[in-house]
Amino acid sequence: MSDFPERKPIAHPTGNAPWIGTGWKMNKTLGEAREYARDLRAYVAATDLAATVFIVPPFTVLSNVCEELEGSPVLVGAQNAHWEDTGAYTGEISCRMVADCGAEMLEIGHSERRRCFSETDVTVHLKVRAALRHGLRPLICVGETAEERAHGVAVDTVNRQVAFALHGLSAGDALRCALAYEPVWAIGEGGSPASPDEANLMHAAIRRRVSELFGAKAARNIPLLYGGSVTSENAAGFLREPEVDGLFIGRAAWSCEGFLEILGLAERYRAGAS
Ligand code: PGA
Repeated sequence: MSDFPERKPIAHPTGNAPWIGTGWKMNKTLGEAREYARDLRAYVAATDLAATVFIVPPFTVLSNVCEELEGSPVLVGAQNAHWEDTGAYTGEISCRMVADCGAEMLEIGHSERRRCFSETDVTVHLKVRAALRHGLRPLICVGETAEERAHGVAVDTVNRQVAFALHGLSAGDALRCALAYEPVWAIGEGGSPASPDEANLMHAAIRRRVSELFGAKAARNIPLLYGGSVTSENAAGFLREPEVDGLFIGRAAWSCEGFLEILGLAERYRAGAS
């Protein structure tokens, strides 16, 4: 049962198909975005891809990308939104506006937003509720800093972020969310990826917490993605881990060719070829 009137049902992928997506961050002009979306659309149409594919473009191209991908199974998300629907919030975009563009997901709480734009666990929580209110699937990013890991509080930190984000939701609504474990030390230039084993251990800890909060079914079914310096070289290693349900990719998928390479790997991996 949902506490939020559904604008439209949030689609659930079936089976064990991985979630593979990319956030474009502050990149791409309209022309670049359209071209990427067209190439991705053509690839997905030509391939019997057993993956839930998503892209998270910047606001300026969101409606154009949604238009390019209309009718395609590729999901589109926004990188952030305010929790209020309307109002005097200069420079902000609401979930209502994001949904109106045709987007289906909302990335919330990326570490760059937490670090550079004062995003807190409380605002993440408000945004999760706002996204659900507008039928957007929250993709909630969590992750510890290198310092938190060095001091032995990585699991506590991540589970606190998860508990804040999902606080007060019904099990059904928790299941309409996805979580991306993105250790801060693994993201971006100068980051180094977690090992598949490190990712798997943290995902298992997150799943235990979700199970305590919402029960075993939610824990089993909520998608848990790994992000942070994913490349075509290491992607299959993460996907092989039993607790990793997908990948959230930055730089390696900013070119469509790079993204397609990883999607191809995921496909081959699923088919048991690598
Ligand atoms: P990266 O970014 O793959 O470039 O490290 C990941 C992310 O920020 O989600």
